[in-house]
Amino acid sequence: MSSHGFELVVVANRLPVERAADGTGWQPSPGGLVTALKPVVEATDGTWIGWSGTPDEDLEPFRAGGLRLVPVALSAEEAASYYEGFANSTLWPLYHDAIAPPQFERRWWDAYRLINARFAEATAAAAGDGATVWVQDYQLQLVPALLRQERPDVRIGFFNHIPFPGYEIYSQLSWRRQVVEGLLGSDLIGFQRHDDAANFLRAVRKLTDFKVRGSTVEIASPTGDATRPVRVGTYPISVDAQMLDELARRPDVVERSQRLRRELGDPQILLLGVDRLDYTKGILQRLRAYGELLDQNAFEGTDITMVQVASPSRERVDEYQRLRNEVEVVVGRINGDHSRLGTPALHYLHQSFPIEEMAAMYLATDVMLVTPLRDGMNLVAKEFIACRNDNRGVLVLSEFTGAADELRQALLINPYDIDATKQAILDAVHLPKQIAGRRMRALRRRVLGADVHHWAKTFLDALQHPEASG
Ligand code: G6P
Repeated sequence: MSSHGFELVVVANRLPVERAADGTGWQPSPGGLVTALKPVVEATDGTWIGWSGTPDEDLEPFRAGGLRLVPVALSAEEAASYYEGFANSTLWPLYHDAIAPPQFERRWWDAYRLINARFAEATAAAAGDGATVWVQDYQLQLVPALLRQERPDVRIGFFNHIPFPGYEIYSQLSWRRQVVEGLLGSDLIGFQRHDDAANFLRAVRKLTDFKVRGSTVEIASPTGDATRPVRVGTYPISVDAQMLDELARRPDVVERSQRLRRELGDPQILLLGVDRLDYTKGILQRLRAYGELLDQNAFEGTDITMVQVASPSRERVDEYQRLRNEVEVVVGRINGDHSRLGTPALHYLHQSFPIEEMAAMYLATDVMLVTPLRDGMNLVAKEFIACRNDNRGVLVLSEFTGAADELRQALLINPYDIDATKQAILDAVHLPKQIAGRRMRALRRRVLGADVHHWAKTFLDALQHPEASG
C-alpha cells in the first residue's frame, strides 16, 4: 500500500481465503472469482476486504496467498441477521424468483444496513486517492452509495453474481427503493444477463425519478444543474478455462477418472450432478426425473448409474435444512427401489471435493445434468465443458441459468417439466457420438474464448475507461 492507500479494492462478503484443514494457516478459496481477481489485485497494489466466514473473530489485516487482506468482523448475532437473515433468507430467495418464500424481517434489514456501512467504512479507509473499488454481489448492495458519500473521488463498480428479478417480484421488498439507491452509488453496475440488467433498469424507472437513457441512469445533483452517469451492462462471468483444460490433461487426473469409473462398477452410462445443496439448483426435480426413468425401466438393458454431489451450504438456514431432509428421502427411495447389492442406482455425496477430484469426475461422465430452477450463471456447466478436452460428454442444461444464454449447444430444458427433463436425459444418453462431439467443440470454443480473466478485464476496463467502452 502506498502511504495514501490502495489503488484497487475488491469488496466481497467473503475473503478470498479459508482456513487450511489443519487449522494453522490460510489457503485460497476455490472458485472463479478468486482465481480471476487474485492476479489483478496482486498486479495493481490492491487489497481485498471481506469476512472470514467465522463469527466473533476479530482479525487484524493480514497477508495470505500473496494478497493483502482486510477482514471485516461479524458477531454471531450479526452473522445470523445480516448473512443468514437478510442476505440468505430475504434477498437470495427473492432474487431467485421466490422459488422459496422470502422472509421479511425488519431487524434483518437494520443489520444489513449496519454491516453494509461497516464494509463501506473499511473500504473508505483502505482506498487511495482516485482508487478503483469493485464491490461484489447481493450481500453488499448498499456499499456503493455509502462509499460515495465518504469518498466521491473513487471509481465504484458493482457486480451482481445472482439474477435480478422482474419488478413484480422485486417490488415485494419493503426496502426496494433504498436498495436501488444503494446500487446507484456506483459508476458501473454489471449483471450476468441482459435480462437482469433490463429488470434492474425497470426497477430504477419505477422507483426513482432519474432519467434512464439507453442503459445509462442519469443521477441529478441536488441542485439539478449537473448529472452523474451510472452505466448498467452485461458481463457474464466464467471459469479459469485454460487452467481446467490443463488440469484435465494431467496424467494423474485422467487416471483418477478411469479409476472412478471402475470404482462405480464400470457402468455403460454415468450421469452426474454437482451443486451446492441449494433449493435453486433443482436437485429434487432432477432426482424425480431420474427416479421415474428407472421406475419405467426406460434405459432397458443399459447399465446406468448416477452420482450427485451436493456440497454443504448455509446449513444454519431453515430452508436449507428442510431441503437436505427432502433430498435425502428421495435418494433413499431411489436406492431402495433400484439398487442392487454393491451397485447403488444413485451415489449421493453431501461433501465438497478439491478441484482435481471434480475434474476427474467431469472427465468420467457421459451426461452432465445442470438443471437449476434459477441461477445467475452456473459455473459447474462451464467447468464441465472446460475439462472435456476429449470433446466427449453431453450437457443437459436448464434454460433458467445465465449460462444458457451462451451455451446454446447444450440440450436445453425447462427443469419444471419433468417429462421434458426425462426425454432430454434419454436423448443425451442416445446422442450419436459425432453429434455430441460437434456440440462439445462448439461449447468449448465459447468457454475457452471468454474465460474469467476476460470477464474481469472487460469489467475493469469499462469501469476505468468509460469513454472507450461507449
Ligand atoms: C453464490 C453467491 C456468492 C456466494 C456463494 C457461496 O455463488 O453468488 O456470493 O459466496 O454462492 O455462498 P456462501 O453463502 O457460502 O458465501
